[in-house]
Amino acid sequence: MDGLKTYLDETKGKPFTTNWTDVDRIGNTSGERLGYQTQKPVALLERIISASSDEGDVVLDPFCGCGTTIAAAEKLRRRWLGIDVTYLAINLIENRLKEHFPNSKFEVTGTPKDFASARDLARRDKHQFEWWALSLVGARPYGDKKKGGDTGIDGIKYPRVSPTETVKTVVSVKGGEHLAPTMVRDLKGVMERENAAMGIFISLEEPTAGMKKEAASTGVYKTPLGATYPKLQIFTVEELLSGAKVHAPSQDETFKKAGFIDTAKQQEMEY
Ligand SMILES: C[S@@+](CC[C@H](N)C(=O)[O-])C[C@H]1O[C@@H](n2cnc3c(N)ncnc32)[C@H](O)[C@@H]1O
Repeated sequence: MDGLKTYLDETKGKPFTTNWTDVDRIGNTSGERLGYQTQKPVALLERIISASSDEGDVVLDPFCGCGTTIAAAEKLRRRWLGIDVTYLAINLIENRLKEHFPNSKFEVTGTPKDFASARDLARRDKHQFEWWALSLVGARPYGDKKKGGDTGIDGIKYPRVSPTETVKTVVSVKGGEHLAPTMVRDLKGVMERENAAMGIFISLEEPTAGMKKEAASTGVYKTPLGATYPKLQIFTVEELLSGAKVHAPSQDETFKKAGFIDTAKQQEMEY
């Protein structure tokens, strides 16, 4: 006599209770880790969003930190709004979205849009200014200067220079009024110490002729695919706000040059 057969892939399973123990916390070496103290696993936010909304719905996180809710909402094709009071969070989210969802379209409001508001931010809060300025070149904040230990590096980014290789690029931000060639020399020293392929110097005020000369004398960086870029580049905040771009290969260009296609799509699906 046949008994009742149930198949695992056909049953709905047990509904979740209020105690979820199957989502691992983010490990120390997890690729997800952004260094934001309160970061949650993206799988957790995905579950919450999937259970409580449909595609196209709007998800709001008014204290969005490093943007795990936003990343999960973007992945699940929700529309979203994220709010945070610190530029550290805004910087991390912008970089996170650009890295994992290169085709996502979003607008950042409430950030400085001209020289006067940038100077105002620099005067009110040096760290907030640095975090914001770093986002203009797509760099992540580096280290925790509030806890002391200045390494001479404010930000860091890793442009992809071949399908298998990224290179270290260190960033220095100066929001003060007094600029001098020694500051560029210091960045050169940091680049050597850190074995960085390129360096970016961002200033609020116009750099002096001596600083530009010092930067030009640093020479060029040649990528494995044969493209060359100035090794040390100086930008004012105003130039960056007007659309100036760091001279470095974009991920898309690098992959196309090497004969790869649609890697952006591939990355988006892997997240
Ligand atoms: C615990 S974290 C957010 C975590 C995030 N919701 C998640 O799930 O990953 C709290 C965030 O609230 C931000 N915050 C604190 N006061 C705020 C305010 N008045 N307005 C907006 N954001 C604020 C902090 O900067 C911090 O990033």
